[in-house]
Amino acid sequence: MEEILLDKVVALAKRRGFVFQGSEIYGGLAGTWDYGPLGVALKNNIKNLWWKMFVEEREDMYGLDAAIIMNGKVWQASGHTETFADPMVECEECKKRFRADTLADMKKCPECEGKLASPKQFNLLFPVSMGAVKEDNSTAYLRGETAQGIFVNFKNIIDTFHPRLPFGIAQIGKAFRNEIAPRDFIFRVRELEQMEIEYFIYPNDWEKYFEYWRKEMLEFMNRIGLPKTKIHENEIAEEDRAHYSKRTIDFEFDYPFGTKELYGLAYRTDYDLKKHSAESGVDLSYFDEETKERLIPHVIEPSFGVERTMLAVLLSAYSEDEIGGEGEKRVFLKLTPSIAPIKVAVFPLLKNKPDLVAKARAVYTTLAEEIPGITFDDNGNIGKRYRRQDEIGTPFCVTIDFQTLDDDTVTLRDRDSGKQERVDISGLEALIKGRLQ
Ligand code: GAP
Repeated sequence: MEEILLDKVVALAKRRGFVFQGSEIYGGLAGTWDYGPLGVALKNNIKNLWWKMFVEEREDMYGLDAAIIMNGKVWQASGHTETFADPMVECEECKKRFRADTLADMKKCPECEGKLASPKQFNLLFPVSMGAVKEDNSTAYLRGETAQGIFVNFKNIIDTFHPRLPFGIAQIGKAFRNEIAPRDFIFRVRELEQMEIEYFIYPNDWEKYFEYWRKEMLEFMNRIGLPKTKIHENEIAEEDRAHYSKRTIDFEFDYPFGTKELYGLAYRTDYDLKKHSAESGVDLSYFDEETKERLIPHVIEPSFGVERTMLAVLLSAYSEDEIGGEGEKRVFLKLTPSIAPIKVAVFPLLKNKPDLVAKARAVYTTLAEEIPGITFDDNGNIGKRYRRQDEIGTPFCVTIDFQTLDDDTVTLRDRDSGKQERVDISGLEALIKGRLQ
């Protein structure tokens, strides 16, 4: 049943222009996906909400957009060239590769039953050759996490903004991982996007801020409309934690293919700043004006994946019901209005009545000046237009009908209940804006 839900969401995402396979006309490229007009709008709305909540509305946060291609030395210092790896096994017959930690039987290939070779550690970083000559020291890497862009800019932020502890540096951007087995639609991909914060603190405060960020992360999940019942916190045991972490909680979500990691919260100590100080020779300490002492701050890291957010949002929003009193089935996305790709659709009741079309255009133009994410549709009958908007999660539809021409009122339809109310055009914008919050 749950697997069927995933199939339905994948089909809707393709049918309605949210997500397409990467390089599709050439047979695709595993672990890559392209985002169509509605997908990019949904992703942008999620990222904007995150940026507003964690950067714009705070005084202690500094935004950053660091380069994706980074010096190989960064990844040596951070420990990623050595330890950022998953155990991999290859089938000696069909040559397919699997993540060893996901296999029940380590001897037999799950695809062809051939013999599996012994597991090897497979590094997930994507190397890139820079320049015309391929030399060892010219190997750079596509960043495996956005976090390192933050650590290598720590001194730049300190020198230009002189922040006092505690403060954070936040970044949204692409990261790349050569996953052995990309799978489950956009859940495990090779090109991903992360929204990350490195929050710099006094070492003794780490428990306080770990708890603080745990709550902030839950609040973000609440704001994007993920149901509490589908979110679980998993305290990661020491032997399973990343090499830099002294404590990690994974926020897991009930995906149709299992309860799996959505986000991570880690206490990275002073690991990264210390390593980069030592390897680069640049002093990455912080001078405390009050105590007149230098220290290497410790770090709490809330990390959010954009694709996993989008998948959890789509799965949570997907709904089916019957509407219209005649057992007519409909599919709708119950998206939280603030992240819906389209907020309002405006329709003339009939396409072939110039008075209605002109009035609908005028309403559309006025609303569009104030509300981003608005669309005009006069294609097909009104019932079909409602269904099309329901399916992409548009919270409100405004219809201009013959009564509008008499009394300047329109119908405002609510996506979830399908109920319509008559509203004065003069108060329409304020009413919708209020309900979009
Ligand atoms: N800076 C810490 C870090 O990168 P991580 O647990 O490896 O930690 C953080 O990744 C988040 O990035 C995950 O919780 C998940 O949301 C997302 N993520 C990681 N690998 C991913 C992949 N292959 N595909 C999609 N999202 C991924």
